Amino acid sequence: MIDQTKVRVLLLESIHPDAVSRLEANGFEVESVRNALDEAELIERIDGVHLLGIRSKTRVTAKVLEAANSLVAIGAFCIGTDQIDLPAASRAGIAVFNAPFSNTRSVVELALAEIIALTRRLTEKNSGMHAGVWDKAADGSHEIRGRRIGIVGYGNIGTQLSVLAESVGMQVSFYDTADKLALGNARRCGSLDELLESSDIITLHVDGRPGNAGFFGAEQFARMTKGAIFLNLSRGIVVDHVALREALASGHLSGAAVDVFPKEPKGRGDEFVSELRELPNVILTPHIGGSTEEAQSDIGNFVATKLASFVQEGNTTLSVNLPSVALPLQEGMSRIGHVHVNTPGVLAQVNSILADHKVNVEGQLLTTRGEYGYLVTDISGGYTDEVLEQLRAMDQTVRLRVLA
Ligand SMILES: NC(=O)c1ccc[n+]([C@@H]2O[C@H](COP(=O)([O-])OP(=O)(O)OC[C@H]3O[C@@H](n4cnc5c(N)ncnc54)[C@H](O)[C@@H]3O)[C@@H](O)[C@H]2O)c1
Repeated sequence: MIDQTKVRVLLLESIHPDAVSRLEANGFEVESVRNALDEAELIERIDGVHLLGIRSKTRVTAKVLEAANSLVAIGAFCIGTDQIDLPAASRAGIAVFNAPFSNTRSVVELALAEIIALTRRLTEKNSGMHAGVWDKAADGSHEIRGRRIGIVGYGNIGTQLSVLAESVGMQVSFYDTADKLALGNARRCGSLDELLESSDIITLHVDGRPGNAGFFGAEQFARMTKGAIFLNLSRGIVVDHVALREALASGHLSGAAVDVFPKEPKGRGDEFVSELRELPNVILTPHIGGSTEEAQSDIGNFVATKLASFVQEGNTTLSVNLPSVALPLQEGMSRIGHVHVNTPGVLAQVNSILADHKVNVEGQLLTTRGEYGYLVTDISGGYTDEVLEQLRAMDQTVRLRVLA
């Protein structure tokens, strides 16, 4: 059992101070490190750490996890979790959490700002002014009110953009491969072509599944209406940038905003190379759709809350790797969290061990996800070490944690 007053947290990569205060408010001892650590350094520092917080630069490898003798959960204070060996974490019964929704609003606001800027041709007016050109002409400048936005991918970001775009007077259409409920007055299109042929603005908010690589190319640009505007703030790999350049250079599209690229520079000093450089009425941004102080603070709070809830209550809601279980804590109960290999009969075996020792089950919840199951059991009247030893000795047990 982890003594709740002695939970050790190691946060790397300058995680937002809101996360530190949230974890300290739970009585945890937090050590915050400015930079990422490499594998050898992390192996050295992970001894005795219960919770590890990282961002995108720290790699949590199988070797690190082997050395992590006390680790119960990892918080990725970002969206992606590719930097963590998730199968190894699951094998060790370590829960991984991230912040999939914290920067949704930031992306939506950037998209909306870019739609207005492109529709008013602000980029050209701005660069003209910097070059000393005073051009008050209204040609090609429009209000966004009444124009039709076509959203491709109606998920977290697409739906929020739908609501905001409608509130500034735009008409909204969307296309999604999954069956999605239309919000407000949004119109669902039965095909991507229908959306492309009927919208003044097309904006991509699809996920990065492998099938989406290169799905938007010359054929799709040709389907868009003449003078339309194109935005991609989703994933760089989904768009053919040579085809986009041609559609812009030929005047078929009147503008574009791109935040994500198939190949992005690794560091600050590296040159940004793209077919889209030096085109008029094109806004290029360095993958900053979700980069706001508000989003960082929200990520800090969100992930820290998930980590604390896992330590204190065993809740795995929105865990990236473990089955999702959330059982309200009852006063005076002991709670046992049991991560196990998902095979038939585990529940019966656990309950038979408890019954043999006259332990009464007051609450219980089991969820499975692929190879693993997670069972949370609340018991009253205490338990002996023998009960825990027998549960631990089960062939299917991956990890057993007594929470209270
Ligand atoms: N620019 C940034 O900084 C930034 C920040 C956050 C998220 N993102 C990216 O934005 C995208 C959307 O994020 P989200 O949280 O809304 O994701 P989400 O998973 O909630 O939504 C994606 C939606 O796209 C749909 N979809 C997938 N492939 C499709 C296709 N080919 N055609 C039509 N619909 C399709 C899915 O069914 C789903 O509804 C992701 O790719 C994410 O990585 C970018």
